[in-house]
Amino acid sequence: MLTVDKVNLHYGAAQALRGVSIAAPMGKITCVLGRNGVGKTSLLRAITGQQATSAGSIAFNGADLGGLAPYRRAKLGVGFVPQGREIFPLLTVKENLETGYAPVARKDRFIPDDIFSLFPILQTMLGRRGGDLSGGQQQQLAIGRALVTRPKILVLDEPTEGIQPSIIKDIGRAIRYLRDSTGMAILLVEQYLDFCRELADHVYIMDRGEIVHEGPAETLDTPEARRHLTV
Ligand SMILES: Nc1ncnc2c1ncn2[C@@H]1O[C@H](COP(=O)(O)OP(=O)(O)OP(=O)(O)O)[C@@H](O)[C@H]1O
Ligand SMILES: [Mg+2]
Repeated sequence: MLTVDKVNLHYGAAQALRGVSIAAPMGKITCVLGRNGVGKTSLLRAITGQQATSAGSIAFNGADLGGLAPYRRAKLGVGFVPQGREIFPLLTVKENLETGYAPVARKDRFIPDDIFSLFPILQTMLGRRGGDLSGGQQQQLAIGRALVTRPKILVLDEPTEGIQPSIIKDIGRAIRYLRDSTGMAILLVEQYLDFCRELADHVYIMDRGEIVHEGPAETLDTPEARRHLTV
């Protein structure tokens, strides 16, 4: 289980997270919803160690992540799929996947077959450059690269952003399969309400740096929850 407890995060004088507390249990899909600029990516930066926090604590399966560098968190099983995908455009698909080897023990430095069963397109495009893939294919590659690191929690930042509906379906199916077959924890940040409602076991809504709602996915249909999500 990932636990984020009363975390504050500042960019200079501007506060992006205000006392944020969430939990993402193993074997569950936990979703954080919120409009543009409410602090979703900042929360994930705090979890992955890309941005220092100014208060609170973050722990994963009993290990305190506070102050650890991103690669140390990756070694502890925190896998990250960044917003905008961040594929290396000049590296091939295979080479992009291999960048996931860094935190992995030498004996585990191979690409698990699961990745190609989930996203067969990656296998057929192994020799192509990352930059030649469509947005949806790059998103599948970004998830594949995170899976190469053998995560115990998979953290995804808006994986449906700018992606065509058929691939969104594939990604949803993959996320569900990962939860059910591996028991990993999944922490999904989204603006796409329907995607979350279908997938999530538990949801949080963020507004202006704070958690303003929490409950099972069905509670997204209450007027109180909607109020925080409509522009
Ligand atoms: N590197 C930075 N330096 C200064 N301010 C930042 C930085 N990154 C984000 N912010 C500010 O922090 C707030 C939260 O941004 P964040 O990127 O976490 O939001 P978000 O919910 O991920 O938005 P989006 O849905 O657009 O991805 C915003 O006001 C943003 O302008
Ligand atoms: Mg963001």
